[in-house]
Amino acid sequence: MELKIFQFSKLQISSPKRDKGLQTGWESFFPYYAGYPEIFVKGLLESANLSPTSIILDPWNGSGTTTFVASRLGYEAVGLDINPVMVVIARARMLPCSEADSLLPLALALVGQGPRPTIEAGADPLEEWFAPQTATAIRQIETAIRESTIGGIAPLDGATIGRISGLAATLYLGLFAACRSLSRVHRSTNPTWMRKPKSEEQKTTVPPVGVVAAFIDNVRAMANELAASEKTPGIAPRWAIEVADTTSASLKPDSVDLVVTSPPYCTRIDYTAATRVELAILAPILPEAREDLSRNMIGSIRVPVKKIAQSADWGETCNRFLDRVRQHDSKASSTYYYSTHLDYFDKIDSSFGRISSTLRPGGIVCLVVQDSYYKDVHNDLPTIVTEMCGRHGLRLGRRDDFRFSRSMARVNRHTKIYGRPSVPTEAVLCFEKAA
Ligand SMILES: C[S@@+](CC[C@H](N)C(=O)[O-])C[C@H]1O[C@@H](n2cnc3c(N)ncnc32)[C@H](O)[C@@H]1O
Repeated sequence: MELKIFQFSKLQISSPKRDKGLQTGWESFFPYYAGYPEIFVKGLLESANLSPTSIILDPWNGSGTTTFVASRLGYEAVGLDINPVMVVIARARMLPCSEADSLLPLALALVGQGPRPTIEAGADPLEEWFAPQTATAIRQIETAIRESTIGGIAPLDGATIGRISGLAATLYLGLFAACRSLSRVHRSTNPTWMRKPKSEEQKTTVPPVGVVAAFIDNVRAMANELAASEKTPGIAPRWAIEVADTTSASLKPDSVDLVVTSPPYCTRIDYTAATRVELAILAPILPEAREDLSRNMIGSIRVPVKKIAQSADWGETCNRFLDRVRQHDSKASSTYYYSTHLDYFDKIDSSFGRISSTLRPGGIVCLVVQDSYYKDVHNDLPTIVTEMCGRHGLRLGRRDDFRFSRSMARVNRHTKIYGRPSVPTEAVLCFEKAA
């Protein structure tokens, strides 16, 4: 067998910044603020000296850029995410273009079915944003998708969501996109936040026929996009995209050749907030309550339930940063902010341990990591991650820094108050597991 020698210097590392202009075509149906562009993943995969049997993992798969590109290039791809909404979106992205023609007829047949029993009025989480009649119309479509594509009336477990077909996932995505446009008045410039209407009058009111039209329009546009992408190579059939929590998932040891991912940010952004409406749509099939999901997320803004002790194992830079947060004289620094940061580092450290064990000796990990500030204290996450990964047997071979003007750190209004740099560094860190 030909011996392939990996060289960090040969890795093609382009900017991980995904500007809005790149979110066209299929990606425009779920514009995800936290993702990197396909071209970034493509460059890495094409230069990483992989073999046709290589397995690529994204443990924080988000909108599924890694799994989509890896699969297009013919590799076995595995994507994990704790948020079922992101799993549905990433699975929809894998729908082969041969299915383009069946999408619209299927959607039309679904909306043509008569009314079906749905969630009782007043009990549907969609009513947080939509007037009861509008929420019922959305729920009718969701029930029709669920009954005809998944079969079961839930709750399903995370594993079942990780098996729903590409067609079912795409129909859900059509409904997500419709609800996203119908509820846009509640959205703010912060992509992770949705305002909650304060009164019944502020809720979105659209007649049922308008809800159906929005759903059908989105499915039609998605079918057209998919049909237009036919000239590009198909999706390799070997892929798995599942709901999993990286702090507890049991991953097969020594099996993965390359990890390409971006860990959740450490900027006190609630990831579930960006997908609240979609979580409400999926409510009947969700394995856990929204509060539990939000708490289990890495980067959760909720106070952790268990007591977490600062650990020397997290490295010098992390410990220095945590000490400064705890000693900061601003309100709640030593309590709320210190404990949520502990929660972040505890979860991310145990995840790196699992990621390292699932990597084969000599395997590569490429991470996109952004620094940030807590008040005036620099959170040098790229260095913290480098030290943590080192303790889990991952040796840094290359680091490329990029500077962005748009980032999640800037969403935080305190940037101006503390006069700290407003342009964070996004580092691409590449590690090798000791052979
Ligand atoms: C920065 S985003 C990844 C974006 C992705 N690379 C893309 O291109 O779309 C981080 C992801 O980690 C997920 N996440 C947060 N905590 C997690 C956990 N404990 N286990 C697995 N996934 C988690 C979030 O739901 C989010 O989708």
